[in-house]
Amino acid sequence: MQIIHTQKELAEVAGACKTLNKTIGLVPTMGALHEGHASLVRRSVAENMVTIVSVFVNPTQFNNKEDLQKYPRDLQKDAVFLQSLGVDFIFAPTPEQMYTAEEMSSTFEFDFGGLDQVMEGLYRPGHFNGVVQVVSKLFRLAQPTRAYFGEKDFQQLAIIHRMVQVMKFSVQIVDCPIVREQSGLALSSRNERLTEEQKKQAVNISHILFESRQLTASQTVAQVQNWVIEQIDRVEGLRVEYYQIVDQTTLQPTDTFEHAIGCVTVYCGDVRLIDNIKYN
Ligand code: PAF
Repeated sequence: MQIIHTQKELAEVAGACKTLNKTIGLVPTMGALHEGHASLVRRSVAENMVTIVSVFVNPTQFNNKEDLQKYPRDLQKDAVFLQSLGVDFIFAPTPEQMYTAEEMSSTFEFDFGGLDQVMEGLYRPGHFNGVVQVVSKLFRLAQPTRAYFGEKDFQQLAIIHRMVQVMKFSVQIVDCPIVREQSGLALSSRNERLTEEQKKQAVNISHILFESRQLTASQTVAQVQNWVIEQIDRVEGLRVEYYQIVDQTTLQPTDTFEHAIGCVTVYCGDVRLIDNIKYN
């Protein structure tokens, strides 16, 4: 396994693979890797001749400076983990290696077709502009055959699918299911910041989401939505930012459970956690 840091090196690696007709799997990450990432990486290693994992805490997708500062970083630990999974290359640039000063300071423009007008897009203005900026750059440099993303960030995944269509990238996006702890808690790099007590509180999020599935036969979407918010808010230490049941493709609010997904963001202390549940 090799660790590379510059855009030039990444483009050269990709070019060499293309010349030899080798398929490339790309797993974009922000590091602080856990079993959720491992599931994406294992799949990439199984399905491609070469796997590249990017480890880059992308500053342009953080609308909250404190969140960016507190984001866990440990490249050495991540590298040991990725080596054990059979990764070929880690791409770990600095922000200065990734962006010009202008790219860093201006908002990346993209037509989201409305996908950014709900949920995370409303609470984290500019977040998805930064995501599209970094992922489109990674795609251009790494020229992946397949790229792997987790369904925990469901809105991000929908936006990546749109980006591929709009920007005409010839890459297959592979949607990978949420990986949970045995307790049900969705794996997240942010879980590292939870105390043992907070972890016990946070476990309730997935339990309540799963329980809400039982209500869909007898209650309306609005009722289930309110029920989830009430139940989570009742748990000491948890505060719901939003819970929305939306159509899985358009991400617009829906009044039927057909093809619906419920997406939640919850503060556990000052740690912002997201999760979701498909109803159909
Ligand atoms: O999901 C993430 O970790 C990030 O948003 C991504 C896709 C690596 C882009 O920085």
